[in-house]
Amino acid sequence: MREQLEQLKNSSLQAVAAATSVEALQEIRINLLGRKGELTALMKGLGSLDAAERPAVGQLVNAVRDEIEAALGSALEKAQESVITARLQTERIDTSLPGRRARKGTKHPVSLVIEEICSIFAGLGFAVAEGPEIEHDWYNFEALNFPPEHPARDMQDTFFVENNLLLRTHTSPVQIRTMLKQKPPVRIIAPGTVYRCDSDATHSPMFHQIEGLMVDSSVTFGDLKGILTVFTNQLFGQKTGVRLRPSYFPFTEPSAEVDIACVICGGKGCRVCKNSGWLEILGAGMVDPEVYRHVQYDAENISGFAFGMGIERIAMLKYGISDMRLLFENDVRFLQQF
Ligand code: DAH
Repeated sequence: MREQLEQLKNSSLQAVAAATSVEALQEIRINLLGRKGELTALMKGLGSLDAAERPAVGQLVNAVRDEIEAALGSALEKAQESVITARLQTERIDTSLPGRRARKGTKHPVSLVIEEICSIFAGLGFAVAEGPEIEHDWYNFEALNFPPEHPARDMQDTFFVENNLLLRTHTSPVQIRTMLKQKPPVRIIAPGTVYRCDSDATHSPMFHQIEGLMVDSSVTFGDLKGILTVFTNQLFGQKTGVRLRPSYFPFTEPSAEVDIACVICGGKGCRVCKNSGWLEILGAGMVDPEVYRHVQYDAENISGFAFGMGIERIAMLKYGISDMRLLFENDVRFLQQF
């Protein structure tokens, strides 16, 4: 066995010295040290030796293996280097050229609008609140005064999940979650993703809203109009006209739809405002006492207002985007313009 080892060592070292390519060297390694390699076979044979002889021969096998591996290693390194040198000579790589610059991302227009609106309301003393996107029917509807089977539920095309769980259709349930956690005064805005079974050029089944809620000892409808006027002036520019129209929501009484003077034509009438001069941007109203009952607030001694707006619509108006689907196609040529 010692002889066999000596022979194998010599022939292997010769083969390594004679090999000129990376492939040839790799083949030598496999033939010797691979699973079915010659040296591997010898190592497996160690078990059949006398127990007295085994340690010495074992050491010898290891020494031979180390020597061959070292020779293989340095020969491989040399072979690889000469491959690179040869390529550098024939391919003429200009290593002085500048590298490719990594492209920097940009913020999505919906995120930009959310950030801007949150910062305007932060300046008015509103904190940011959040709630889950998979919501209980109770928070999304019932506590907001949409009883089961009430026709007002048809206003929102809901994705039901199971067992009274659904994808929230609006950010209004965050009002309920906040009031259950906290006593008045409350002054929050709640941005987030909402879902409805609805899809065309101006509706996406997934979109974003920002909810607002202010409750204190004597909040009035005048406060609501004042806050919304300051807000729209900051978002769309000074002296944007604001108009409130009577409307209906189950969780506010009275309720209003809020319009701003058309930011495209300045109120003269155009295609975007359908010649009315006005654009609807949000729903609002005074919180209905029935809602306070669900969160154990004392409706006799407090009052408050709430409002909710769709972010995509505001982003489209602000940036002059005509099709909502552009916002979700994720074409960077479109998205990096904002
Ligand atoms: N949640 C309503 C919707 O998605 C919008 C809304 C209207 C929110 C009036 C409010 C509000 O807070 O007071 O259609």
